[in-house]
Amino acid sequence: MKVAAGTTIGLSLGRRPADEGFRNRLHLLDCGSHSSSGGSNRLESKLAGRGRIPIAGPSITKKEIEYVADAVSRCWYQDANLYHEKFQRAFAAYLGVKHATPLPSCTAAIHLALAGLGIGPSDEVIVPESTWIASAAPINYLGATPVFADVDEETWCLSAQSLAQHLTPRTKAVIAVDLYGGVPDYDALRAVCGPRGIPIVEDAAEAIGAEFGGKRAGSLGDLGVFSFHGSKTLTTGEGGMLVTDRDDISRRVTVLQDHGQDPTDRLYFNREIAFKYRMSSMQAALGLAQLERIDELVARKREIFSWYWQELGEVDGLKLNREPPGTKNGYWMVTVVIDDSFALPKVALMEALAAEGIDTRPFFYPLSSLPAYGFLGGEAKWLPENPIAYRLSRQAINLPSALNLGRDDVLRVCSSLKAQLVRSKKPMGRVAASHR
Ligand SMILES: Cc1ncc(COP(=O)(O)O)c(C=O)c1O
Repeated sequence: MKVAAGTTIGLSLGRRPADEGFRNRLHLLDCGSHSSSGGSNRLESKLAGRGRIPIAGPSITKKEIEYVADAVSRCWYQDANLYHEKFQRAFAAYLGVKHATPLPSCTAAIHLALAGLGIGPSDEVIVPESTWIASAAPINYLGATPVFADVDEETWCLSAQSLAQHLTPRTKAVIAVDLYGGVPDYDALRAVCGPRGIPIVEDAAEAIGAEFGGKRAGSLGDLGVFSFHGSKTLTTGEGGMLVTDRDDISRRVTVLQDHGQDPTDRLYFNREIAFKYRMSSMQAALGLAQLERIDELVARKREIFSWYWQELGEVDGLKLNREPPGTKNGYWMVTVVIDDSFALPKVALMEALAAEGIDTRPFFYPLSSLPAYGFLGGEAKWLPENPIAYRLSRQAINLPSALNLGRDDVLRVCSSLKAQLVRSKKPMGRVAASHR
């Protein structure tokens, strides 16, 4: 399937019906992949010299280079904010929200979102176990306490049931993470938070282009935050965005991001100690160029996922990213969950793939299991409360998902992965089971 620029793929990738002719059953591979079969050899020799297959990376064209060059040469003096204004207007329009604030990172955006909500010492903020530490660290920056909730088996995102179980009178906000481009059940999360007046910060760092109920990821909570790190679908090198429909939060964020200066107040007359969180013109120019290509970039991610699905989607014992009805997955990072019936510890698999020039990443370790959060009780306290996040961490890895991948790269990854899995069906006395 080829995707033209500016089009989206009309496939319902998460719900592909079983296909009788599907050639990816492992029993077929036993005699095919990574053997000396002609097909496999031809593929490998064709790809020889192509180097490592990267886990993530951007798509940069002449447009991006021209916009950044224009910003460098022109955006000073009275034009200093030209690209900021264009980028934030276009971003707000893309999401269908009132306010968008460009920032130096998503971590900064989460920090500002929580500060804007007035989170402070003695407050608790609920965050899912399965996410990058940046979702939670800003809770600690403000002296508040993260409370870890489990994720849903299908979406790998915050479970509404676990969220409800972790509420206390001190819960002042919830961070819902759109993991790897998928979205949680926002109707269920709102049903828990809405009646209690608990705001939802949607961490859409990984999910530009995703949707829930026809609304774009980032616009599904009280506030939304994005990352434009170099690994993301839309990049500014480093960068982030905070979006919201709430005028009060937007006004507060404007003051907090600029050392407490209120634009309506006396110049250089700071009324509080705050932060310096601004994006440069060059980053904003890059962001605008990428945003003008966003349909193409998201379609490309979905096309890459479709190649993986064709190879792995019907293999017994493997699970790829899901796209529940009423949602659209941005497929930022293709992820495979490997059933325990394969005696293949994740680290051994990652090392084997690395030896073949294939970069992978571990599915996020549960935050509560990280040494950084050991002071909150560690695995002994949290594993019994959040078993799904702990199991997924043991069973899942991220596969190469960079925007520059071709179909041959994906075939090479799948062929190597399946060969490892086939081998792992044999007795493996040497490798002890471990979830690290
Ligand atoms: C879920 C999630 N939240 C937050 C962040 C932080 O983004 P940044 O690196 O732009 O601060 C990331 C970055 O990878 C992320 O994946």
